[in-house]
Amino acid sequence: MSNPSSSSIEALLNAAQGFVKELSRPFVGRDEEARIIAAAVVSGEHTVLIGEPGTAKSALARRAAELINARFFKYLLTKFTEPDELFGPLDIVALREGKYVRVTRNKLPEAEIAFIDEIFNASSAILNTLLSIMNERVIYDGYSEIKVPLWTLISTSNNVPEEPELQALYDRFLYRHFVKPVSEDKWIQLLNAVWRMEFEPPEPPKPILTMNEVRELNKLIFSVDLSRVKEKLVKIFAVLEDHGIHVTDRRKGKSLKAIAVNSIINGRLEAVEQDIMILSSVIPRDRDELEQVNVVLVDELKTPEKYLMELAEIENNLRDAKEFIVSMSGFEPRLIDYLRTFEALRERVRAIADSTSNDIVRKKAIDVLNNASEVIALLRRRIGL
Ligand SMILES: Nc1ncnc2c1ncn2[C@@H]1O[C@H](COP(=O)(O)OP(=O)(O)OP(=O)(O)O)[C@@H](O)[C@H]1O
Ligand SMILES: [Mg+2]
Repeated sequence: MSNPSSSSIEALLNAAQGFVKELSRPFVGRDEEARIIAAAVVSGEHTVLIGEPGTAKSALARRAAELINARFFKYLLTKFTEPDELFGPLDIVALREGKYVRVTRNKLPEAEIAFIDEIFNASSAILNTLLSIMNERVIYDGYSEIKVPLWTLISTSNNVPEEPELQALYDRFLYRHFVKPVSEDKWIQLLNAVWRMEFEPPEPPKPILTMNEVRELNKLIFSVDLSRVKEKLVKIFAVLEDHGIHVTDRRKGKSLKAIAVNSIINGRLEAVEQDIMILSSVIPRDRDELEQVNVVLVDELKTPEKYLMELAEIENNLRDAKEFIVSMSGFEPRLIDYLRTFEALRERVRAIADSTSNDIVRKKAIDVLNNASEVIALLRRRIGL
């Protein structure tokens, strides 16, 4: 097959971003969750959203499946769910002939995208079949392996499973995302959104992404330039290890894939340090580890928060300097040192503005750049340049 042209690559990247936007649209504060679900879909991996009741986990998973034009299966698992309900009933006619065949029509073995609510209710009767569908993409019908088309399983749960028999299932999810309740500053928006949905339940959305596009996006993973992140990633694994957080070799390898996918979701074929942040939905196995992993990531990476803090500090320095210069009468030799310092700072701010992919950071950097230019002009006048 020929490589996609640059215009079709751009269309694919736009389609991925459109999916994220459309998925999160009816919800308040669910952009990150939408990105994780999109990442799972582009990766061809599975994801579980874990969080307290009523945080829109099921609603998001359902909407994601509705937005993809794919063979779809959804089910709410209980402790009492029987294998037939997921994998299809046994074919009675075949059984009379001594054959053990399932009628899989419209069941999980025929689905490309599946949504299984409360996945860790899986009983031992269904667990093994579920594991082989998720990992090897096969189902055993008693005689042979049958390939299944499952691409991504989206699941939800209130808790991390503690039962030893569920650990293999938990490990099958590359993206394990912890959903936080909406923060206080968005409660008004939340009330309005829920109010709107209560009285005008939204129509199921029209699909905006086809499985073909999903497969093409998946192929793009191998074109992502990872040269700017690999060394940093190795360093982060080492720092995590120092903090007692061991990343299994499987997850180490897959971490790189998650980073490449994150850059695709952000509309780029070149991974930047910020893309490594997706590891906070890949590495931690529980909330305690999440806190620790986040501390390490924020510390090691040039996150928007870090840039904003640096810019705020430069802005403070500029404000103090301006007051000081205005209060001074006449020329002082140290004004020349000031000039050099602020010219260097202006270059630093310009570099931030040019390199960031975050709109808030860029806007802030441009503001600070203007402030710096104003102070520099003032200094030059005072010095008589
Ligand atoms: N962030 C949000 N933005 C908009 N609506 C929300 C938000 N959080 C919750 N809701 C509303 O609450 C409803 C309940 O969410 P949902 O049933 O998806 O929660 P859940 O996380 O799956 O809960 P449970 O763990 O009990 O299954 C949603 O359909 C939506 O109407
Ligand atoms: Mg739910």
